[in-house]
Amino acid sequence: MNARVLFFVGKGGVGKSTNSSLFALKLARGGKRVLLNSIDPAHNLHDIFKISLGPKPKQIVPGLEAMETDLDQWVKKYLKDTQRDFRSVYKYQEAFNLHRYFKTLKYSPGLEEYAVLLALLDTLRRFADRDFIIFDTPPTALTLKFLALPDVSLLWLSELSQFRQLILNKDQIITRIKQGRKGATKERDPILTKIADMVDRYRGMSDLFKDSSVTRTFLVLNPDELSLAESQVIWKELANLGMKISYLIINKSKPEDAFLGRVEGLFGDARLLVLPRMAGGELTGLKNLDSVEFPMDIEEV
Ligand SMILES: Nc1ncnc2c1ncn2[C@@H]1O[C@H](COP(=O)(O)OP(=O)(O)O)[C@@H](O)[C@H]1O
Ligand SMILES: [Mg+2]
Repeated sequence: MNARVLFFVGKGGVGKSTNSSLFALKLARGGKRVLLNSIDPAHNLHDIFKISLGPKPKQIVPGLEAMETDLDQWVKKYLKDTQRDFRSVYKYQEAFNLHRYFKTLKYSPGLEEYAVLLALLDTLRRFADRDFIIFDTPPTALTLKFLALPDVSLLWLSELSQFRQLILNKDQIITRIKQGRKGATKERDPILTKIADMVDRYRGMSDLFKDSSVTRTFLVLNPDELSLAESQVIWKELANLGMKISYLIINKSKPEDAFLGRVEGLFGDARLLVLPRMAGGELTGLKNLDSVEFPMDIEEV
């Protein structure tokens, strides 16, 4: 993959969308090829660029395309794919009334995280040739969940795989008893094959998130105690996942802020960037966005 992956994370309203847009624009103006994707169900990139946006990337300026992922569509796709997999693996599903399970599945918790992860994977695959893929993320709770999902799924899959192996061993014993001979080498179990595919996929994502030479995370916060407290939770949770925060953006800062001192030392070796609070209305529309100086050089990311 050629692209570097940037995540802008932080509490709702701190300025993730604004800062990801500013930096995306700066990269494009500097000759980089950038895709900016909002995976926050409450999209606002269209308001920031003052242009209508949807799941199809649209050129904002040469080098910069932006899109707003339709998460509902990915939830539907996830349900459909799961149903198809079940059909192919459990051919006897009618006998067990498994089709009823699908009616319940759409109310299952955690669907949204899966949808975000699928959308993310799709973007990484389709835009791997860009210089930068930038994700404007949902507020904290959902972001932490989808970032943790690959590792959580790997744990679950490992248990599942052992459980399946146990069933297969029992099955083989029964076959041997019935047929009175050593069980012939059977073809690969379709469920184990499916589990192995999923392990590969989640392992790839987990490795990518942790690889700070590819993935760079920007944590955006405002100079106030609530935003600082939530940022520390994010920092800790990401550290637990083996993910590093590369940059800390103190956004909406005021010249007299003593806040910088409060933050020092709390976020490891994350680099501190400061963006002042701008007067109202200065942060939407291309002309205004172009006039704001994002506090980092594009060669430094
Ligand atoms: N540096 C700034 N100065 C002034 N207003 C800002 C600044 N950064 C963001 N805003 C404003 O704060 C609000 C929330 O910003 P937004 O980027 O949508 O946050 P998030 O994506 O984190 O929810 C918007 O009205 C935006 O214009
Ligand atoms: Mg936003």
